[in-house]
Amino acid sequence: MKVAIVGCGNISRRHAEAYAHTGRTELVGAADLRLEKAEALAAKFGGRAYASATELLAAEDPDLVSVATPPGSHAGLAIEILGAGKSVLLEKPPVLSLAELDAVAEAEAASEGSVSVVFQHRHGSAGLRAADLLGRGALGRPLVAVCETLWFRPVSYFDPEWRGTWAGEGGGPTLGHGIHQIDLLLHLLGPWRTIDATAVRLDRPVEFEDVSLASVVFESGAVASVINSLLSPRELSRIRIDTSGGTLEVNHVYGYSDKDWTFHSAPDAAKAATLGLDPGVPKSSTADGSGPTDPWAASAGEDVPSNHEAQLTQLVDDLLAGRAHATSLASTRPTMEFVTALYASAITGGPVRRADLTPEHPFYRALNGGIPEPRLGNAFLT
Ligand SMILES: NC(=O)c1ccc[n+]([C@@H]2O[C@H](COP(=O)([O-])OP(=O)(O)OC[C@H]3O[C@@H](n4cnc5c(N)ncnc54)[C@H](O)[C@@H]3O)[C@@H](O)[C@H]2O)c1
Repeated sequence: MKVAIVGCGNISRRHAEAYAHTGRTELVGAADLRLEKAEALAAKFGGRAYASATELLAAEDPDLVSVATPPGSHAGLAIEILGAGKSVLLEKPPVLSLAELDAVAEAEAASEGSVSVVFQHRHGSAGLRAADLLGRGALGRPLVAVCETLWFRPVSYFDPEWRGTWAGEGGGPTLGHGIHQIDLLLHLLGPWRTIDATAVRLDRPVEFEDVSLASVVFESGAVASVINSLLSPRELSRIRIDTSGGTLEVNHVYGYSDKDWTFHSAPDAAKAATLGLDPGVPKSSTADGSGPTDPWAASAGEDVPSNHEAQLTQLVDDLLAGRAHATSLASTRPTMEFVTALYASAITGGPVRRADLTPEHPFYRALNGGIPEPRLGNAFLT
């Protein structure tokens, strides 16, 4: 399969390495507005270098093009690549608004190509097991969840011109960082219904928030607390889901493997009384090893870490087999709706329902609601 990469900065190398790892792709071209960056990537991984996607598409015939540019350029590039009949892999966040998402979806419907989005944490083996088991009810009914992205970005992180701005970066940790965990949470818990959120700018020189918090109610009735921060020196990414059957939890920072996940079965009252089972001890590891194996332990298989390699291997498999890739653009709409509602709730004050997010909603076209300097709930600072 012929592949190309547009945007040859930090993350482009992960794409090039992951494609090379599949052993079934040829990198035919790399494009960057700064030609020397495209030349450096092409020199290491193959293909010719171009100064724009337009030049690359005129000269090469890739089946799939990775878009690894700043988020503000994703929608325009995706539409151009789809217009040339090629498939696109968009880095996260796929777009900067629901309006952009719908415009890309319209271009996809008219193209022979398809759009996939990089959300690598859906593709680790434990994440796939969690989605399967929760989806089948095998871990019980989800009740309470906590989703934390507590990361640290120093002031210098915002040096590149596109960072820190609504136009270039599109949003703070809600859109740019916590979106990985938010996407995984929604993938595991299903449709959400309402969000009540706060976003504050406490310390960083940015136009948007550096911390956001949300209370979420899901269609199933489950509730979740979500926090996204760029001010947290000991970094942590965590999702914890308490179900009627136990607690499923993943603790990592930028990528997990199987060992980062645990499932603690809920003790049933009779067993707890007779066996002295501690609610904090997984059923599968009772002291003498004789306890019944829980569904989580029983589902363990090959450990595939949640990285670009995991997702791009699956994507190349899918495209070569003529199958739809699970992490399609359409599958990421609930995630972009969530991010949109979080900003709308934080900026306007009050809960936002998913059903409210029609094209007439003031935040449909822009995550800041079209307000250049929205109040972020930190009135005490101004
Ligand atoms: N999936 C992940 O874990 C992950 C991690 C980091 C970054 N990202 C995402 O990857 C994307 C790129 O991030 P980065 O850190 O590599 O940024 P970067 O600034 O290091 O690189 C972006 C590159 O794109 C080039 N560029 C800008 N506009 C262009 C255009 N229209 N055509 C061609 N080239 C263009 C720039 O010159 C630059 O070299 C962002 O969307 C970011 O959110 C994803």
